[in-house]
Amino acid sequence: MKPLQTYTAPGITVTFDPQVCVHSAVCLAALPAVFDVRRRRWVAPEAAAAADVAAAIDRCPSGALKYVMTDAVTTAPTVDAARDSAASEAGARIQASLNGPLLLQGDYELLDEAGAPIPRSGRLALCRCGGTGNQPFCDGSHARVGFKSRREAAG
Ligand code: SF4
Ligand code: FES
Repeated sequence: MKPLQTYTAPGITVTFDPQVCVHSAVCLAALPAVFDVRRRRWVAPEAAAAADVAAAIDRCPSGALKYVMTDAVTTAPTVDAARDSAASEAGARIQASLNGPLLLQGDYELLDEAGAPIPRSGRLALCRCGGTGNQPFCDGSHARVGFKSRREAAG
């Protein structure tokens, strides 16, 4: 299992869980100065304001990227963080994405086939195409296998 990666900068600590990344490249597009897979240290949170790094991470669909604000002045929750919190209060929310994974959010318990807990929380992307090499998580293979969700296939 690939270990959790941690990147620190003034005002923010970023973690990346390679086990659950769906390779959407949303982070790379959002802040290319911070997220650049061509670098060995691919996350450089010091390359942008902590609030901007947090806002980019809030758009990560899988929850592979997470952050903790370490500057008391900038701890106001961003829009997505507030939505995560609201979803948690309301229980779990599962949303199907177009031609992609099931996006899980809120408060849930994930179990494997034997009923053993899989320790994950917060946003998560679960495979529904069957093509992932990392069950039960989406690993981005839905694009490779050409998965079409029912709604689009029917149209
Ligand atoms: S899932 Fe998150 S960490 Fe992985 S590429 Fe997409 S935005 Fe980046
Ligand atoms: S839905 Fe993404 S790999 Fe299956």
